[in-house]
Amino acid sequence: MRRAAIAVLLAACTVEGPEGPIGPAGPPGVSGSKGPAGPAGDAGPPGTAGAFVVVSERAKRGLDISPVPLSLEGLTDAQIERVGYGSYLVNAVADCAACHGRPKPAGPTGFLAGGERFALPAALGTEVYARNLTPDPATGLTLSEDQFLLIMQTGLDKKNPGSRLRVMPWFEYRWMTAPDLLAVYAYLKAIPAVASDVPADVKNPLASVPWPGAYRDGDVERVLFDAGVPDPDGVLRGYAIQPLAQPDLGAQPPAVQRLFGRGSYLVNAAGRCNECHTNPPRDPATLKINTAAYLSGGMVFTPSPALAEALKLERSMSRNLSGAANGYSASFIDFVGTLATGRDVTAADPEEVGWPMPVWALRHLTLSDLEAVYTYLRLVPRRTGADDKVTPEPVAWCSATVPCSAPQTCDLTAGECVGAPCDAQRLCGACQVCSGATCMAPPVTATCLTQGL
Ligand code: HEC
Ligand code: HEC
Repeated sequence: MRRAAIAVLLAACTVEGPEGPIGPAGPPGVSGSKGPAGPAGDAGPPGTAGAFVVVSERAKRGLDISPVPLSLEGLTDAQIERVGYGSYLVNAVADCAACHGRPKPAGPTGFLAGGERFALPAALGTEVYARNLTPDPATGLTLSEDQFLLIMQTGLDKKNPGSRLRVMPWFEYRWMTAPDLLAVYAYLKAIPAVASDVPADVKNPLASVPWPGAYRDGDVERVLFDAGVPDPDGVLRGYAIQPLAQPDLGAQPPAVQRLFGRGSYLVNAAGRCNECHTNPPRDPATLKINTAAYLSGGMVFTPSPALAEALKLERSMSRNLSGAANGYSASFIDFVGTLATGRDVTAADPEEVGWPMPVWALRHLTLSDLEAVYTYLRLVPRRTGADDKVTPEPVAWCSATVPCSAPQTCDLTAGECVGAPCDAQRLCGACQVCSGATCMAPPVTATCLTQGL
């Protein structure tokens, strides 16, 4: 049933042309002299006011999925479009709330009000706290547009002079186009202010990174078309920030070439897929992407004890999306199904896609953006050899009162489910070891636990 529904959606999607401008509503019908009111008039012809589409599909989606009410009073159509698209970028693509705060009805903080603590490795300092991004004048985001752009593009930490943002993934977001970053800013100005004082960071000084003006994070240096060349969908930017040599797309139809560019833009800028799906993602000194292992998975994630209990998840590992033999190979229908339901629909017994894969955000992508991401993942050059990693399933959390599903049993010392059968074909969960044809918890000293694959 679900597949059929999606197939219908897809069919509808491919025959639809680009969205035209919305025409003004027609005049209301006249009332009859004594009879009932006449019918409403037909919609008028499409408006001709410039090329501006009042609210694009993505902006409309953004306005629909904002988890908080927005103050749009007094804004022009163009400004509402920008707020809506900003919401789309924040809530469907970039998932800023993953770190800056989801709505907590009963708690002290609210949507994007910050406060979450992130421990730093000893060499970098002690800890940082996600900032309050709401427009609260005392405790929130008080940056001007220009300052916001500078921070997103260079990692400058205005609150700690001489320091750089350490946890905030500005090195991915910096590749968003300036108009898109300003759409994010417009959205942050339209959300409700929340008073939430965030503790100060404790981190070592480190200079911010000047905006390079060209893309040098990958194998090929590329120019960025910024000023003057309109790129509303980020297609040109997407081509520029694809970190590998460009695949030969000459034989692909133009529509597929556009999807590849848009997909690259979503994956390599706002979607920050690289930060989780490449292990390790970058050279910390030069910020160059680890292109040999680009998107081939293997990063390990261990939730805090409280989160592990809530999610029933001990450990997960990002999946290989780009490998020649072991990469992601689901059909588009299954890809959409997995993101829409948050469950891996390709598994025999559909499991939830493990935290911290941001399915709760990506499920809101428009169908054409899902198609763009999927097209990009299929056409990006394949990783091979040792970089074509076999990336395993998540490992379930358990305790004396929370059992495992058979045939697994709970290893109470490790607090994880063990005992699944394994052999050359059937692998163990993330970092577990196959011993005597059954999966066991990894030794606490296993490098997989700290470094992944
Ligand atoms: C992986 C976690 C994470 C994500 C995702 C994230 N941030 Fe951040 N952000 C932080 C942390 C932590 C800080 C502050 C400390 C640091 O990183 O050193 C910060 C700081 C900032 C600052 C600096 C604020 C100031 O007062 O100077 C801005 C602006 C910001 N984030 C915006 C965003 C936006 C917009 C998004 C989504 C597009 C986002 N962040 C996504 C963790 C994150
Ligand atoms: C914060 C880390 C993180 C980010 C960001 C992230 N992923 Fe993932 N992703 C994961 C993890 C972890 C898994 C493995 C989940 C599991 O095994 O159940 C995963 C799994 C997947 C899967 C396989 C789903 C399945 O089980 O069938 C796909 C496809 C995927 N990610 C695509 C993406 C794309 C595309 C992006 C960027 C738009 C992205 N991911 C961003 C962490 C992340």
